[in-house]
Amino acid sequence: MITRRNFIEQAGAFATGLLLTETASAHTPPRAPGQPMVDPNTLPPYVDPLPLLARAIPIGTRPHPEHPSQQIPFYRVAMQQMSIKVHRDLPPTRLWGFNGTSPGPLFETRSGEPLLVEWANELPLKHLLPIDYTLHGSGHDVPDVRSVIHLHGGRTPPESDGYPESWVPSGKSTTSFYPNRQAATLLFYHDHSMGTNRLNIYAGLQGLFLIRDAEEDALNLPTGPYELPLLLCDRYLRKDGQLEYPISQIPGKPWVPEVFGNLVLVNGKIMPYHEVEPRPYRLRILNGSNGRFYRLSFTANHSADQDNHLPFHMIGSDQGLLSAPTPLQRVELSPGERTDLVIDFSSYAGQNVELTSDLLRVMQFRVSAKTAKTSPPTAKLPATLRPIDRIPESAAVLTRRLTLDEHLNLADQSMDMMLNNTPWHMPITEKPVLDTTEIWELINLTEDTHPIHLHLVRFQILDRRRIDTGAFLTDRTLKFLGNREPVGPTEAGWKDTVRVPSGTLTRIIVPFRGYPGRYVWHCHILEHEDNEMMRPYEILPTPTPK
Ligand code: C2O
Ligand code: CU
Ligand code: CU
Repeated sequence: MITRRNFIEQAGAFATGLLLTETASAHTPPRAPGQPMVDPNTLPPYVDPLPLLARAIPIGTRPHPEHPSQQIPFYRVAMQQMSIKVHRDLPPTRLWGFNGTSPGPLFETRSGEPLLVEWANELPLKHLLPIDYTLHGSGHDVPDVRSVIHLHGGRTPPESDGYPESWVPSGKSTTSFYPNRQAATLLFYHDHSMGTNRLNIYAGLQGLFLIRDAEEDALNLPTGPYELPLLLCDRYLRKDGQLEYPISQIPGKPWVPEVFGNLVLVNGKIMPYHEVEPRPYRLRILNGSNGRFYRLSFTANHSADQDNHLPFHMIGSDQGLLSAPTPLQRVELSPGERTDLVIDFSSYAGQNVELTSDLLRVMQFRVSAKTAKTSPPTAKLPATLRPIDRIPESAAVLTRRLTLDEHLNLADQSMDMMLNNTPWHMPITEKPVLDTTEIWELINLTEDTHPIHLHLVRFQILDRRRIDTGAFLTDRTLKFLGNREPVGPTEAGWKDTVRVPSGTLTRIIVPFRGYPGRYVWHCHILEHEDNEMMRPYEILPTPTPK
């Protein structure tokens, strides 16, 4: 059987991390052949301070789209190309970002406080990265540079949600309305353009968006300088400082199935450091990588045993607070997932603490000897955070069985990935009714874990169960190879992205609340999403009683 793993080996794309123009199509932007790559082992770590994200500032107010007599904050955010130093020892990198920064500015609002954003596409006409014109929606009949912004995890009306086909070309803009009628959490905004979303995000089109609420305020969690929003992503860079995005060896089809950069950027800097006090900090972390899964842990430099990781508490996931803090020493994060951690540096005064993902360096915390005079007293972490009622399975009106699939085309060695064996352009098959609850059984027939994300909704993970994929592929019989594995405490809160491991049936229970209309669900490995591992779904209005 030909799997994606040995397909990758055949393509050889990842062993070296670069495959350059010799094999690329005429459409691939010219890149310097053989440009040497930055070697993470020779680039000094922890020489740049962690950038604190700029705040988005409204430029005025506009009428509320639902209640025009009310004025709400109005932001204008322009997508632009810029040059930014991502490391002390590298020349500036051409990136895409928003209002002069990449990642974009941090939005901060409160639950129930609506806002409007005009997303202006002021990007150049030429793309920074190699477009694959064979992908659906990415042909020569559309502009190379197109963009539409989606607020991931937002309960947003369909016309403001950033539907992949609703992109605009350079010189145009769209305005989105974000009602923010949802619990406090860390959301993020990013490009969602059909067929180029992986490239636009790799170029830098993403940013963080915080929602606060009274429930969270009451917990006295670390705030102000003691709360750090951190956007993690991995990249390949060439020695001239420019982004490198790997391409396949298939002429005319540069798409690759996955990208794992060898350098981690935090808020736009490679391996930065941050000076902290010996006290608790709250870290709000997004995995904004195209394909990398992180396994994050903290190590004190003076610790004799490098496997001795610092304890911390996880207090929240994608859609807000967990029911109680969960003690951990390592946290896993797939693309699109967020985690909310409280780590207490008070036992590490005068030491350096490294945040790593397995062997990969992420960032360093330099713990000062004493807390600052101005440092507020630290409140104890509460024993409980908020009630989370588990949804009973009996609440579901429908169970859908949906497969995650992968096929290799032997003719040209290209790869098809799909949801339920159905390409994007086929008629909509998933049509839940507004205000009903469904169970989605996600059956992963592929070799890899896929992080599956549904727009608009928050859901709970029920369980995972190993299945015999061979039996299923033969005649769709479900043969279980184990018992149902319930989720642990870190996955028992509200989620919007779920890891579906290879050879499992992973069940989620989804209340479809919000707005009727057309949304999407997809794998959040961006290369998969751009190559058919995305489907529209439609929420039907609740029937009116006769
Ligand atoms: Cu991060 Cu379609 O989403
Ligand atoms: Cu989303
Ligand atoms: Cu995937």
